[in-house]
Amino acid sequence: MKILVTGGAGFIGGNFIHYMVDKYPDDMIVNLDLLTYAGNLETCKPVEDKPNYKFVKGDIADRKFIFDLFEKEKFDVVINFAAESHVDRSIEDPGIFVQTNVTGTTVLMDACVEYGIKRYHQVSTDEVYGDLPLDRPDLFFTETTPLHTSSPYSSSKASADLFVMAYHRTYGLPVTISRCSNNYGPYQFPEKLIPLMISRALADESLPVYGDGANVRDWLHVYDHCVAIDLIVRNGKVGEVYNVGGHNERSNLEVVKTVLRALDKPESLIEFVEDRKGHDRRYAIDPEKIETELGWKPTYNFDTGIQQTIQWYLDNKEWWENIISGEYQNYFEKMYNMK
Ligand code: NAD
Ligand code: TYD
Repeated sequence: MKILVTGGAGFIGGNFIHYMVDKYPDDMIVNLDLLTYAGNLETCKPVEDKPNYKFVKGDIADRKFIFDLFEKEKFDVVINFAAESHVDRSIEDPGIFVQTNVTGTTVLMDACVEYGIKRYHQVSTDEVYGDLPLDRPDLFFTETTPLHTSSPYSSSKASADLFVMAYHRTYGLPVTISRCSNNYGPYQFPEKLIPLMISRALADESLPVYGDGANVRDWLHVYDHCVAIDLIVRNGKVGEVYNVGGHNERSNLEVVKTVLRALDKPESLIEFVEDRKGHDRRYAIDPEKIETELGWKPTYNFDTGIQQTIQWYLDNKEWWENIISGEYQNYFEKMYNMK
């Protein structure tokens, strides 16, 4: 099979590429990424010389480029990770979120309709369901929870999901959608909570906790997300949504304190700062459907997964220090213009 993975120089797409290239040596994995500020080809270094892997630089919202690529490559499967993914950036500049997350998704699906594919998979998020109250721990997001978004980011992802379902109903495109909770693990860009706190704590810088730090996220190790997507693409039912999560709810303050303890740094580094606008209080996934229909179960729990993740950031300082210094943006030039 020839599989197009978009956004494979990012955090989850990059982990997915590693997983797929190793697991399916007979499949060809094509990584299409625009290399925005969030794209880092150093993430793909471990697979870049593998015969079943290829990188292509380009924009999922560029119709001509996408149609030419599909004409040439004849993909069997398309898995769309490419997105603007950071809520805080969406509050500052919503337009690029509409462009990449909504327009980009429809352009990709137009090409799928035109050239034909066996499966289009949309990597979505639990944030499309909005948030749950902190005082109702009995409530969880299921696949039938109404879409009810809070941020420009989650609104763009929900819009994309609606288009995906519309392309299924209208054009018969064989689609699936996964809606996962917050991911953590290796190669996450250090603007997101966990890698930001690790990198700042190591530099003895203050750790900015929004509001009172009581907001709850449901954390899933990125490896378990990759396994879930692979399962959905291969065995999931066309036209269906699958929620992905492992019941690992933690408040932001608990997460930050866990990082500080692991690094032997004082809690006095915590600094409560102005709350995020429209800040969602709690996310929590009910994963029953993917567990019973597809037999998926997470392999990590948060307590062990977070320790392994912190160790990864300690062992791979160069990877994130290059991001903080901006050096990573020269990697494409170095690797691809010289080849
Ligand atoms: P990321 O920001 O780390 O990576 C996004 C990648 O997409 C980058 O490599 C970037 O260069 C690329 N990209 C951006 N615009 C592009 C465009 N127009 N054309 C081609 N490539 C483009 O994001 P992530 O955290 O890896 O998230 C991947 C997907 O998973 C996103 O769709 C996100 O909504 C979803 N998701 C993320 C989480 C999470 O906790 N991070 C949870 C659930 C779902
Ligand atoms: P983030 O990693 O941005 O993911 P998301 O907003 O998609 O859940 O943030 C996770 C939580 O951590 C969220 O409640 C916002 C909070 N947060 C902070 O308190 N301080 C920070 O510096 C960041 C980046 C996030």
